[in-house]
Amino acid sequence: MTAEEYAVDVPASKPAEASVPLHPLVAERWSPRALDAVASVSDQQFTALFEAARWAPSWGNTQPARFVAGRRGEATFDRIHGTLSRGNKGWTSNAAVLAIGVALMVNEDGEPMPYGEYGLALATQNLVLQAVAEGLYAHQMAGFDRDAARAEFEIPAEYEPVIAIAVGGLGTLDGMPERLREKELRPRTRKPLSDLVFAGTWGKPLF
Ligand SMILES: Cc1cc2nc3c(=O)[nH]c(=O)nc-3n(C[C@H](O)[C@H](O)[C@H](O)COP(=O)(O)O)c2cc1C
Repeated sequence: MTAEEYAVDVPASKPAEASVPLHPLVAERWSPRALDAVASVSDQQFTALFEAARWAPSWGNTQPARFVAGRRGEATFDRIHGTLSRGNKGWTSNAAVLAIGVALMVNEDGEPMPYGEYGLALATQNLVLQAVAEGLYAHQMAGFDRDAARAEFEIPAEYEPVIAIAVGGLGTLDGMPERLREKELRPRTRKPLSDLVFAGTWGKPLF
């Protein structure tokens, strides 16, 4: 089926339904797979993604987040793409940027780095929100081969590749497999706030 036959296309936004207004960067962020094969990011936008990541907070300002990144058309992009799972390989070829987020797991004394992955996650969310601010879309992926990434980019033993990230412009449903089209159109859902935030005793909803 073509997008016309569906009479709907991928929505530009799938805003979070919240009980109070949220900042648009938070409310509008979502993780599309329909990316635009011709959209690109400017040098400034590309740099801004990683500057935003650089300015994330971290335990004791240890700054454990590292990234390997490339833009479509560059060798690094293709090498990252080669490490992605089969499910993620298809739609990510249209990304403008592919990156792998890597966490420093060992400190200078050879001991486990406290909050290493946590620091990478904070840096990655900064990157994602900066992408939204740039009018771009970002989609994180656990579906990649960590060992392949380590070998491909000679990532040292004290670092752990944790997450792959696709950034790009929004595309259309045209040419997408049925399984992915359905996911693109599915509403975004979350557990209710009453399941998540407690006061007094565990499980007693605050809101
Ligand atoms: C750690 C992590 C791993 C994820 N891995 C994948 C993945 O391998 N493939 C994929 O299509 N989406 C992946 N996602 C995207 C999630 O499925 C998505 O964020 C979630 O369904 C919520 O949707 P939203 O981001 O649109 O709000 C991942 C997200 C996170 C944070």
